[in-house]
Amino acid sequence: MFSPALLLLLLSAACCCSVQASHSIDDYGAVPNDLSEKAATANSAAMVAALKAANTTANDRTVLVPPGKSYYYFVVRSDYLQDVTLQVEGVLLASNNISSSQWPSDGTYATLWFQYCRGLTLTGSGTIDGQGYDWWWHVIVTDVDHRPHLVIMEQCSDILITNLRFIDSPQFHLKLDHIMNVVIRNITIFVDIGKQKNLLQKSGNWIPFKSSNKNELDLVSLLSRDPYYKEMLAKLPPELEKILEALGVPTFPLNTDGIDPRGKNVLIENVNITNFDDAVAVKPCNQGDPFTNCSQNMTIRNSFVAYGVGMTIGSVPPNGGVNCVKDILFENITFEHPIKALYIKSNPGDSGTGIVDSITFRNIHGKYPLWYPIWIGPQQQKQPGTTGTGCSWLYPVQDECPTQPRVAITNIVLDNVSFVDGVTLPGVLLGNVTAPYTGFKFTNVTSQGVLAGEFLVQQNYVCKNVQGTGDKLTTPFPPCFTQG
Ligand SMILES: *[C@@H]1O[C@H](CO)[C@@H](O)[C@H](O)[C@H]1NC(C)=O
Ligand SMILES: *[C@@H]1O[C@H](CO)[C@@H](O)[C@H](O)[C@H]1NC(C)=O
Ligand SMILES: *[C@@H]1O[C@H](CO)[C@@H](O)[C@H](O)[C@H]1NC(C)=O
Ligand SMILES: *[C@@H]1O[C@H](CO)[C@@H](O)[C@H](O)[C@H]1NC(C)=O
Ligand SMILES: *[C@@H]1O[C@H](CO)[C@@H](O)[C@H](O)[C@H]1NC(C)=O
Ligand SMILES: *[C@@H]1O[C@H](CO)[C@@H](O)[C@H](O)[C@H]1NC(C)=O
Ligand SMILES: *[C@@H]1O[C@H](CO)[C@@H](O)[C@H](O)[C@H]1NC(C)=O
Ligand SMILES: *[C@@H]1O[C@H](CO)[C@@H](O)[C@H](O)[C@H]1NC(C)=O
Ligand SMILES: *[C@@H]1O[C@H](CO)[C@@H](O)[C@H](O)[C@H]1NC(C)=O
Ligand SMILES: *[C@@H]1O[C@H](CO)[C@@H](O)[C@H](O)[C@H]1NC(C)=O
Repeated sequence: MFSPALLLLLLSAACCCSVQASHSIDDYGAVPNDLSEKAATANSAAMVAALKAANTTANDRTVLVPPGKSYYYFVVRSDYLQDVTLQVEGVLLASNNISSSQWPSDGTYATLWFQYCRGLTLTGSGTIDGQGYDWWWHVIVTDVDHRPHLVIMEQCSDILITNLRFIDSPQFHLKLDHIMNVVIRNITIFVDIGKQKNLLQKSGNWIPFKSSNKNELDLVSLLSRDPYYKEMLAKLPPELEKILEALGVPTFPLNTDGIDPRGKNVLIENVNITNFDDAVAVKPCNQGDPFTNCSQNMTIRNSFVAYGVGMTIGSVPPNGGVNCVKDILFENITFEHPIKALYIKSNPGDSGTGIVDSITFRNIHGKYPLWYPIWIGPQQQKQPGTTGTGCSWLYPVQDECPTQPRVAITNIVLDNVSFVDGVTLPGVLLGNVTAPYTGFKFTNVTSQGVLAGEFLVQQNYVCKNVQGTGDKLTTPFPPCFTQG
């Protein structure tokens, strides 16, 4: 008879053997703790070889990046993997030698790049560091953008991503295109936003709150063009002004998105994202796509976002094959210093159509919004001197924001949503007169600001061409809604 203690012993022995038997990249020629181009090239090759070996081993299908060591690498591309685990206990550092010919000179690619996989797991207590700093600066100064994403999975199913820390991706952190049955749990995504801010300031792509330099555009002078804000700003207590001086708005998004899924059946939970761009952005599918013609059935919950540009749907441009996103739930999300928090965005386009339907945001709390915490309408992106989407960062102070009648946004529910200590108006809900958004329902949606204390509560949403209802607890009350 087995005693429980013996059973435990046997189990832990089995556990121990399977760890020892895994395919350590060291056994495939990896060179740890070496910054050279040669070592990084060898490490990419070692990881590709270890993944291939794991993919053909009957009972041990784990590739191990050993603890306590760092490995520089370029692109690791592996296709058609089945039931393979990449366990990172040490540190993977994408090479920051951006002039190396090991990097592709164009096209979409990633440092960890998997296509047509099934049953792929990325896990471990280690870190995958994109070392994006030099890439970001290169894009700002040259406008040439051939950055890698940190991870791409394309046409993959049955994916699990857990426990890892993803930092400073040159571009998106997890780009998941045409995927199905995905669980992402307990990961951290962290971008050094202090460094991004310095780069943006240095290059003039940052609007400071207040500037002593007369030639520089600042928010105080811009907002003062609006009589309402002018009056409020005049009443700011000096100590609050000091705090606000630290704030500003990036006008040049560096596209360091967190998780961008496109596909169906996705659960994202217990993630912690600090990234200066979309935290999670659900992208649309259309009729030409594998797995599904509409991105759908995703839950994103129990998560924390700092300095993000939103839990986002989109952007969704119209498409001849009907771009579509439906049945997405964001629940129990806490935001700190969001630049945007709840964000649904269409994109310009003159042909085709799009659908965004049945999106729910429930039990959401945010503090210190830096810009409008709620935005449902055209993507707001217009860099000084360019057309962008045509919708100004400073809308409605700058009254430029063409709306999109080809993308129907319907059945949007906000339930138990509160934002406190913001500095701007609560939100923008902006449809087109020929095709108003319909079926919006707000219950207990509140927003309060510090900019002028009680004044901000009076300052309402911009709300145009949206049919919706709000309950008695919803304050301020979107002026184009009805009580319900
Ligand atoms: C992995 O194994 C599958 C078959 O089980 C095969 O089709 C595929 O090409 C393999 N992929 C790699 C990268 O070895
Ligand atoms: C960076 O890449 C260039 C071009 O391949 C190469 O000449 C140079 O030696 C590399 N630098 C380092 C530090 O490896
Ligand atoms: C979450 O990830 C961290 C870092 O890898 C790890 O220490 C912790 O045990 C994980 N938590 C759970 C519940 O798996
Ligand atoms: C929706 O996704 C979940 C996984 O997040 C899955 O368990 C469920 O079966 C999916 N629902 C449908 C209708 O496919
Ligand atoms: C999120 O991650 C950041 C950076 O690693 C850390 O400082 C912060 O404490 C974490 N927050 C939560 C709520 O887990
Ligand atoms: C997707 O396909 C289903 C089944 O063919 C169809 O009913 C639905 O209208 C399609 N959706 C879109 C957005 O094209
Ligand atoms: C909400 O999410 C946080 C993590 O951000 C978690 O600690 C808490 O348990 C969650 N609450 C519920 C009711 O699930
Ligand atoms: C409302 O959301 C907060 C989190 O923001 C949560 O703590 C609270 O339990 C929720 N209330 C209800 C009635 O669901
Ligand atoms: C509404 O859509 C029509 C057709 O695209 C466009 O001409 C018009 O400018 C839009 N209205 C606004 C206010 O953007
Ligand atoms: C309304 O939202 C606030 C803030 O999240 C919460 O404390 C309160 O319990 C909610 N009230 C109801 C009736 O859900």
